[in-house]
Amino acid sequence: MTIKHYLQFADFTADEYARLFERAALIKRKFKNYEKHHTLTDRTLAMIFEKASTRTRVSFEAGMYQMGGSVVHLTTGDSQLGRSEPIEDTARVISRMVDVVMIRTFEQTRLERFAQHSRVPVINGLTNEYHPCQILADIFTWIERRGSIRGKTVAWIGDGNNMANTWAQAAALLGFELRVSTPRGYEVDSQLAALDNPPPASRKAWQNFADPLQACAGADLVTTDVWTSMGYEAENEARKQAFANWCVNAGMMAAAKPDALFMHCLPAHRGEEVAAEVIDGPQSVVWDEAENRMHVQKALLEYLLLGRVG
Ligand code: CP
Ligand code: NVA
Repeated sequence: MTIKHYLQFADFTADEYARLFERAALIKRKFKNYEKHHTLTDRTLAMIFEKASTRTRVSFEAGMYQMGGSVVHLTTGDSQLGRSEPIEDTARVISRMVDVVMIRTFEQTRLERFAQHSRVPVINGLTNEYHPCQILADIFTWIERRGSIRGKTVAWIGDGNNMANTWAQAAALLGFELRVSTPRGYEVDSQLAALDNPPPASRKAWQNFADPLQACAGADLVTTDVWTSMGYEAENEARKQAFANWCVNAGMMAAAKPDALFMHCLPAHRGEEVAAEVIDGPQSVVWDEAENRMHVQKALLEYLLLGRVG
């Protein structure tokens, strides 16, 4: 039997996303009304963190308990992974004891090796290359506020990182335009951003802009992320210099549509990739994005474990 994993955004179709977003809306409504939603009673999620986390941990852990399930939390330091147990052996063992695994790690290939040796579904909780659960939450947040994202324009300002690659995959799959502005040398890797089976429209799904202000011009959504992602800390000083002009400020927001939204996956550094007046301003929806991680991931867990949504 083929096991359904969620290793990158391209793993699901546009139809699957439409159903997931509908299910997430229902799950969120029930949560807000204090209605029980015990669809995963007696199911266990193992979470493996090889990098730090606040939102990913709390959203998966709280979400799993709210669905009647339970959680096991491991880190590199407190497991045998930190003492060189092969990832393949770890996968074989853990997947005999739990129903689903979420991993946050470094290389995508490490996640893939785990998935190849797992008996149960595996979810990408962030790798160097992708962060699909975050984009799931971001697009759900867009839909809540503005409806369909098809045909809209999203401006990505900053590093061509795991978030940027995932936005590019989402643009190709869900039919919106992504405008990317990064400093030279930090561009999105077109191979990582590509889909295995791209629809014809995906060829134009993302476009590079040297000037961040131009990328923002007329955009429906402006989004950014830290200049230095986890695992790249040694480059911090060089990045601070290279990215100095890639701070999303009031001028960039003024170039976007008047009703444009601002998103950031968090954690944020005010005064670096985003000005305080933008992230704390009226167009920012960052707290909704963070909360929505939990609602969309509950729908995702149901889909992977029960094979259906609804
Ligand atoms: N956005 C996000 O994944 O946050 P954490 O690193 O806190 O999990
Ligand atoms: N690009 C960031 C996202 C953190 C949630 C990182 O990988 O550190």
